[in-house]
Amino acid sequence: MPPTVFITGASRGIGKATAVYFHQKGWQVAATMRSPEQASDLAGLDNVLCLRLDVLNPDSIGLAIQEAIKTFSRIDVLVNNAGYAAMGPFEAASAEQIQRQFAVNVFGLMRVTQLLLPHFRAQKDGAVINISSIGGRITFPWYSLYNASKWTVEGFSEAVHHELRLFGIRVKVVEPGLIKTDFYNDSMDRISHPHCTAYDEAFHHYTRMMHQSLKFAATPDQVAKVVYRAAVDRSRKLRYPAAGGASLLMLLRKLLPDALFLRMMGFTATGKKRN
Ligand SMILES: NC(=O)c1ccc[n+]([C@@H]2O[C@H](COP(=O)([O-])OP(=O)(O)OC[C@H]3O[C@@H](n4cnc5c(N)ncnc54)[C@H](OP(=O)(O)O)[C@@H]3O)[C@@H](O)[C@H]2O)c1
Repeated sequence: MPPTVFITGASRGIGKATAVYFHQKGWQVAATMRSPEQASDLAGLDNVLCLRLDVLNPDSIGLAIQEAIKTFSRIDVLVNNAGYAAMGPFEAASAEQIQRQFAVNVFGLMRVTQLLLPHFRAQKDGAVINISSIGGRITFPWYSLYNASKWTVEGFSEAVHHELRLFGIRVKVVEPGLIKTDFYNDSMDRISHPHCTAYDEAFHHYTRMMHQSLKFAATPDQVAKVVYRAAVDRSRKLRYPAAGGASLLMLLRKLLPDALFLRMMGFTATGKKRN
């Protein structure tokens, strides 16, 4: 029987590309999403089951896992992909925006993982692939909440990577760079507050620059291939930088002294050499 992958946030972007790629490779795919009724193209594929799952709704997670196991008998790989970015000056963020960023990107991912672990332990096999970001290793101006959430995903993944080897369960972190999806448009939660305008000029400079740089963004399919490599790689390798300049940025982070690297990233925030 072919192996099964269980993916969160498979309605579009990297999650959808991953579902399609695993399907092409002959896997059974539990493609989970908040609105499966809108996934007609995926739903039409053999061995692809579109299931409702909102990472903010624990009941929906449990039901989707049960349904996937009932249909495919087992789950071999979990891809924790669902996520989004809140972007803007930290000072202007509401308590709700801060909480939601962590509720989706961190607590949702932890909950899905926790509910699947008994299944992986019973099988004495399984892989948890967490879609982090290059922003989980380095930081970008205006992404403080997102960076904090993805740095948490990195720390969490590294720690459970040690724990779960006891049971033959592999933990992997895929770190995409700049990828062309709805992430920078419809999915983004823009942080602003009418009484907090002091950051406007620098922030608008950055968003203009960011939209220009999207011309060089990689495609979600490129990330899907790295996710697949992480899934079939039986090694203990933890981190997989994935397309969109991720490997280059990680290399610069390793080679450059901290002060120089931070100055370079700070320059991108404002376009000014010094504040
Ligand atoms: N694009 C990039 O440059 C980039 C770079 C690094 C890392 N990443 C990471 O890659 C992952 C996928 O992002 P993407 O670029 O593919 O963005 P995307 O096209 O906006 O897709 C995001 C996916 O997450 C889902 N989602 C959001 N909130 C959810 C919730 N509460 N429960 C279940 N699903 C939820 C969305 O579902 P709906 O369709 O229902 O909204 C959608 O399927 C994210 O974790 C992101 O942080 C992206």
